[in-house]
Amino acid sequence: MAPTAKLLLADLASSGVKQIPSNFIRPISDRPNLSDVQISDGSIPLIDLRGLDGPNHSTIIEQIGQACQRDGFFQVKNHGIPEEMISIILNIARQFFKLPESERLKNYSDDPTKTTRLSTSFNIKTEQVSSWRDFLRLHCYPLEDYVHEWPSNPPSFRKDVAEYCTSVRGLVLRLLEAISESLGLERDYIDKKLGGHGQHMAMNYYPPCPQPELTYGLPGHTDPNLITILLQDHVPGLQVLRNGKWIAVNPIPNTFIVNIGDQMQVLSNDRYKSVLHRAVVNSDKDRISIPTFYCPSPDAVIGPPKELVDDEHPAVYRDFTYGEYYEKFWNKGLVKECCLDLFKPSNNTT
Ligand code: OGA
Ligand code: NI
Repeated sequence: MAPTAKLLLADLASSGVKQIPSNFIRPISDRPNLSDVQISDGSIPLIDLRGLDGPNHSTIIEQIGQACQRDGFFQVKNHGIPEEMISIILNIARQFFKLPESERLKNYSDDPTKTTRLSTSFNIKTEQVSSWRDFLRLHCYPLEDYVHEWPSNPPSFRKDVAEYCTSVRGLVLRLLEAISESLGLERDYIDKKLGGHGQHMAMNYYPPCPQPELTYGLPGHTDPNLITILLQDHVPGLQVLRNGKWIAVNPIPNTFIVNIGDQMQVLSNDRYKSVLHRAVVNSDKDRISIPTFYCPSPDAVIGPPKELVDDEHPAVYRDFTYGEYYEKFWNKGLVKECCLDLFKPSNNTT
């Protein structure tokens, strides 16, 4: 019997395929080369946020600034988000992706402009090669504008996710103050640049993959938003590019991974780096990751701060609205790894 086409990858993957369909296979020049990846746990700085508002303030600001500049990535512990909340959100995501296909499909859409949607790969309307991932995307700030759109199954989904989003937003606001300070800007500088602020969240589900060497969960990309707070379950999969080498960032329970997005690179006039990263898959375990993408509102005007521009450091980017940037990102379909070059003053064709 011919298999019926599946909208979601989870339902294809669980049907016991031994070979991945051809639309998932990357060209030989663009494969994960998993044996070439470094596994070094100390590679991404782990910053202890206890004392950020106390005696260790200046040391922690220094650590954050260094990490943003050198790595574009760091991990945080003692971040103030309760362990119980972390296990609840990971469980609710897992329960959601284990719902019957018909129940999950109620949330399905391949239109990236929808504010709540379940989809697969990255942007199936524009991409050439598919990625081994399903994802639920939610807008989550201001909460009251969006909660009613969210899935209502599992029954506690809205309540649990709303609590988590509020808590993560609190962490982000503290980090934005710290990062502003580390750049020598007023503490509320970045906060004020973001217009009405935006917060999106993804729940990524990476099913086991029979041929993980041939495909990605997510190919190399930078995040288009301001700053990302990633929670991952206990299964490795995230890799970060450092000095031309991919490094695995193995999960540490109850820590978050923070990474600088494209808008922060612009707001630091290139001092801080939005770094390439990717997710790989494996043949025996499914994996869940939950990134929070904090962003400017679409009408916010982003550009290098005048405080960071002088003769030696000319403005690397022109001013643009975040809405303009974000549209470019989705239309590129992750083929172009990063859109920042399109917003350099020399690139006036856009
Ligand atoms: C992302 C991302 C990494 C992961 O969703 O932008 O980089 O480990 N995810 O899922
Ligand atoms: Ni990312």
